[in-house]
Amino acid sequence: MSHAERLEIAPASRIQGTVVVPGDKSISHRLAMLGAIAEGATVIHNFASSQDCQSTLDCLEQLRTPIQHTGSTVMVEGQGLEGFRAPSRPLDARNSGTTVRLLSGILAGSPFETTLIGDESLSRRPMKRIIDPLRRFGAIIQARDGNYLPLTIRGGPLRAISFSMSTASAQVKSAVLLAGLRATGVSKVHEPVATRNHTEIALSEFGARIHIDGGEITLEGRRPLQGKEFLVPGDFSSAAFLIAAALCVPNSKLRLTAVGLNPTRSGFLSLLQQMGARIFISQPASTGGEPVGEITVESSELSGMDVGGAWIPNLIDEIPILAVLGTCTRQGVRIRNAGELRAKESDRIHAVAANLATLGAQVEEFPDGLLVPGDQTLRGGIVDSFGDHRIAMAFAVAGLFACQPVTIQNPSCVEISFPGFFELLDEVVEREI
Ligand code: S3P
Repeated sequence: MSHAERLEIAPASRIQGTVVVPGDKSISHRLAMLGAIAEGATVIHNFASSQDCQSTLDCLEQLRTPIQHTGSTVMVEGQGLEGFRAPSRPLDARNSGTTVRLLSGILAGSPFETTLIGDESLSRRPMKRIIDPLRRFGAIIQARDGNYLPLTIRGGPLRAISFSMSTASAQVKSAVLLAGLRATGVSKVHEPVATRNHTEIALSEFGARIHIDGGEITLEGRRPLQGKEFLVPGDFSSAAFLIAAALCVPNSKLRLTAVGLNPTRSGFLSLLQQMGARIFISQPASTGGEPVGEITVESSELSGMDVGGAWIPNLIDEIPILAVLGTCTRQGVRIRNAGELRAKESDRIHAVAANLATLGAQVEEFPDGLLVPGDQTLRGGIVDSFGDHRIAMAFAVAGLFACQPVTIQNPSCVEISFPGFFELLDEVVEREI
């Protein structure tokens, strides 16, 4: 569904019900890409409905991978490690950093030239972080100013590398591992701070020879992958907005079924529990090597929290909503070591600070974070999504507990990760009439 240029979110009196969030975006990208270079078919149920994952499918199709998309099931006909063929035009990753960075890892070993492009936001995001290690594998890569799209990759035979990550980024780690799959020899990645491990889990499910020992990952190159069937868990990062809404709107109780609970992704949950949130997990299970469970959340009084260090990669995508939620905690939240947020779909530190200030909140911006004092009442107002899905959703949640309506400008960017977000909110939000 497309939205008008502006969408008004009125205050809620409570949130109640059971919801199913869309399939995980990070996992869907990885399963589609690995399926494309595996042997045989890969069937992915509950594939993310996000526009970003559609960008990945479109790029894979241009690399001549047959894909069938029926409802939320995607069938990828694996082409094997050497199977891609040169695309007839540049591959457009649109808004998706994961598409461009992970696909670059695969293209580094493909013996043809490919150009990757993206929208205005993606064209501002740094790529040197993947270019450097991929060049070390032997790929020839050109980029605008050495760091930005368009990226032209001439792939070829690769030699395994040992790589120590200087930026805590799952996308960088994954690009290196995907290049390592096509390289001769054993590649090693040293990760000082843990980032989401969906690539490692998926590689192991596809039968790669991968070994993980603390922060050391070793991967044997040139071993074929085997296609298989997967069921993608619900996206924890999408669930986070609904969890925050139910915590802050009084008298709420919300149940979210089959949500991914990978511990490298669910730091937001642990943090909230430490702040006193009434969040309960039931129905623990596992799918495709990924833990899932049902989350029940009830409105809660939250203390405050200082968040930094190893917490950050574990809840990187949840920081905008954490900052918004900070206003309804007792002591507020202080977020540091999160400079990476400035290199996301928007400068999320600036976007959050600007929008909170518009809603009358006190907020202090640091180069690498934010200070949001607690116990604040948000007034209504008009805020901008900055074209960033997570900013639009974070401030839609603010509208539910502000004292007057909050209008979001350019709200349709929510489709990047969570098509149907506003409609789902309407199903669970009760308002006084
Ligand atoms: C992602 C990793 C994170 C995250 C992004 C998705 C992934 O980015 O912010 O939304 O799927 O690997 P970085 O790896 O750049 O931190």
